[in-house]
Amino acid sequence: MEQVFDAIADGLADKQYAIVDDFLKEEEVDAILKEDHFQHYQQHFKKAGIGKQANAQINEAIRGDLISWVDPQTALPSTQVYLSRLQDLIQFLNRALFLSLKDVEVHQTVYPIGSYYKRHLDQFKKDDARKLSVILYLNKNWTAENGGQLRIYSNDQSFDVLPIAGRLVCFRSDALEHEVLPATRERLSITGWILDRIKI
Ligand code: OGA
Ligand code: MN
Repeated sequence: MEQVFDAIADGLADKQYAIVDDFLKEEEVDAILKEDHFQHYQQHFKKAGIGKQANAQINEAIRGDLISWVDPQTALPSTQVYLSRLQDLIQFLNRALFLSLKDVEVHQTVYPIGSYYKRHLDQFKKDDARKLSVILYLNKNWTAENGGQLRIYSNDQSFDVLPIAGRLVCFRSDALEHEVLPATRERLSITGWILDRIKI
């Protein structure tokens, strides 16, 4: 993992984002996909809102994904593997980049066919705890024809990232606008944020 963590630290320092493959191994991704929760997401996932929890409003013109927040206390072993790798990443980035990252919050995410998330920033207006956005993709055999790219806007340019299984995208939550393009297949991921305070 050392090389992968190094690549993330370098990317963040140089350009505010990093894209790495094999953050989770194929077997580790498979184990998450087999979780009952993901298999039966229609029962467990809810339409995502916009804004912080209490004020969150559903607006499908802006985002159409379904989400399920992960409780670290009750997460299944397959998801624990991912959570503990993120904890290792936090420790690594704190040392490599002199940060004081402390915690992480994640939700499992499904974008139904045709749904999208319009261009936005991940940091809330009145709460700057979210320092880094981290998205792990879970989609096997995904090709450009399937759409569903993450489009990142950086320095008056944009580029697209395919949501390929095992790939992690990490970027500055306060700095980089981004959007999710509609897809021809269900698009699965675990979306999260690394915080500079302990989550309450
Ligand atoms: C988000 C988001 C990007 C992606 O949930 O805030 O921008 O690629 N997700 O899923
Ligand atoms: Mn986002």
